[in-house]
Order: sequence, then C-alpha cells, then structure tokens
Amino acid sequence: MKTRQIKDGIDWVGAVDWDRRLFDSLIPLPDGTSYNAYLVRGQDKTALLDSVDPDMAEELLAKLGGVSGIDYIVSHHAEQDHSGSLPMVLERFPSAQVVCTPKAKGMLMDLMSLPEESFLPVEDGESVSLGGRTLRFLHTPWVHWPETMVSYLEQDRILFSCDFFGSHLASADLFVTDRCRVYEAAKRYFAEIMMPFRGQIEKNLNKLSPLDLDMIAPSHGPLYPDPSFILDAYQEWVSGTPRNTVVLPHVSMHGSTKHMVDHLVASLVERGVSVEPFDLTGTDIGKLATTLVDAGTVVLGTPTIHAGPHPYAANCAFLANALRPRPAFLSIVGSYGWGGKTVQTLTGMLSNIKAEILDPVFCKGMPDKETLKALEGMADTIASKHREQGFS
Ligand code: FEO
Repeated sequence: MKTRQIKDGIDWVGAVDWDRRLFDSLIPLPDGTSYNAYLVRGQDKTALLDSVDPDMAEELLAKLGGVSGIDYIVSHHAEQDHSGSLPMVLERFPSAQVVCTPKAKGMLMDLMSLPEESFLPVEDGESVSLGGRTLRFLHTPWVHWPETMVSYLEQDRILFSCDFFGSHLASADLFVTDRCRVYEAAKRYFAEIMMPFRGQIEKNLNKLSPLDLDMIAPSHGPLYPDPSFILDAYQEWVSGTPRNTVVLPHVSMHGSTKHMVDHLVASLVERGVSVEPFDLTGTDIGKLATTLVDAGTVVLGTPTIHAGPHPYAANCAFLANALRPRPAFLSIVGSYGWGGKTVQTLTGMLSNIKAEILDPVFCKGMPDKETLKALEGMADTIASKHREQGFS
C-alpha cells in the first residue's frame, strides 16, 4: 500500500497488518490492526510521527523512499508496535531528532539501542515549528504506558493521539466509514488497553477538551474526521455507568456448573435482566473484556478442581482483576465434589474490583431443587438491586 494523503503536506505512511491475530501474546485481533505513522511537512522542516511494528519496518521505509530528509521523529509511546522501527528509520535519517517525553527517552533507551544524542525530550506543552505548522506536545500519561504523549498540529487542528482513541481494525478505509464497526472495535480496544487506567483516561480527556479539533489521527485503526464520535464514546466508557447486564463467564467439567449457569441465565432473563454468558473453554477474551466496560454485575461460574477454582476460571478472574472493571455487584456460582476453598480463592483474586459481593451459590454434585431455588433468589436480588440503582 502506498502513502495516503490526509491533506496537503500530511500523509499516512503506516502499515496495515491484515493477518495479525494476537497482540502481546494475549489479546485476540479478529480484525487485524494497523500501525499508523504520519509524515508532516512544514515550510522548513519535516516530522515523522511514530514508526510501525518492526515486522513491518520495510513497508514504512519504502513509503519514506522519496523523502529527502526528516528533522524530527516524534515518538508518542515507547511500546514496540510504534517505536520498534525507530532504529531502522534513524539509520536512514541519522540527523533526525527523536522527540518524546523525558520518561519515554529512558524507556526507548532501555528497549532498543538508540544513541542518547539523538533524543530531544520535550516537556508538557512544549512545541516545535516546522515552518507554518506547529506541533504542540501534551503529556498524557497512561494512554497506555506512563510515558505517553500526544501531538496537536495547531494550524490544521489535528490531534495525533497514538494509542489513545485507537482501534485494532485493519481496513482499506483511511477514515471511519462504518461507525458501528469502528465503535465496537474501539470499545473493545478501550476495554483491553485503557480500562485499567480509567481515572487517568478521564483526566487526559479533560486535558484535551479545550483543543479545537478537526480530526483525530490515532496510531491504530481508522482516523476520525468527526472527533466528537470517538470523544463522546470515550466519555461514556470512562464514566463506567453500569447497565442492566450480568456478565457470566463460566466453565463446567461434568455439567453441574453448566446446569446452574443455564438456570441463572433463564432466571435473570425472566426478570428483565440482560445476560452475557461466556463459556471459558472457547471465549474470545476481547469480547468478554468489552462487556465488562459497563456490566452491572459479574457472576463467575466454576467447578472445584483440586480444592480450588478451575484454572480457566482462575485465569478469567486474574484477567478481570487486571482490567479493573467497575461492576456494582459481584458473585460466584459453582459446584464441588467433596470440599475445597473455591469461593475464597476466587474472591481473593478479584480484590481490585470494588463491587458489593452477593452471596455465592455453591452446591455439592448436581444442583438439586434447593440450589436451583437459591439461583432464582440470586436472580431476584440482582434484578432488584439493578432496579434500585436505576441501571438500564
Ligand atoms: Fe499500540 Fe501501547 O501500543
């Protein structure tokens, strides 16, 4: 794919990774991703904003083939999907200065061998002039690592936001065309990347709110020619307003827990509560994470194996705890054969989730009538608490 013009003097020079299916050896990428890099030319100077994943460095270098000189390489974020090709770009343009936050300088030096004299660390609010075009740098920590910043191209009113507002979506479209598709991909990305730092994301949203924006150009996924689309979505997601929904990740070995989960799902639906069940033996964890953004309640279902939770349930609890969603209520259902400490173990693993714990329902062997009644009681409690809280 060739360079793509955004406007006169501003080009997309990134790479679309159609085939990538896993990020960080963890996050599924059902729709691939892109690594967006941008070339901005002023009357006097030229800046490259970010690079691409090192596996696609040749694509970036080919796009820069006709470029006679680069004065600045702006590195918004030290993670390698944006910084990993910097050594190759610097080799091609050895006099370029790497513009980044002071913290990013240290991290980039830790992660790859870049010469210290190549760096031009910038403070929050500092700017560089390209001649007729000014790039202003705003420190935005924790979108997605502590060193992150964004660039505001003042005269063109374009925000280059790197991970902030991104989506893992490989697309032939440079700009958002299918809003529903991008909304889903961006929400999934928010859940996986931004949700653990929701408070910081909110602060950074507020910090950017005075900017007059004509466009947001992230480093993953399509660009936003109507910034309010993604800004409004982020306001909704950071608010964490829970919905009338129960997320129910579960695993079963011989059917007891599955029977309980099915009964709880039916009972919740009868009471007007929406349910998102996930069988953990084959779950897309990105989709599960997305539902956690605004879940009213999370109920984890597991059998007992060797006195504790099934490893798939433990993995889910560990992941959910790391993502720090904000459900109002939390509980556990499941079964055991002869004993164990499954409930205690799982609740201990979910300590980052500051939710009210509802009485768990745990049974020996297959669920009997009393257990099924207890699950109906749990459904009653959840429906009633969701109503009291005004979840819709
Ligand atoms: Fe797209 Fe945090 O890297």
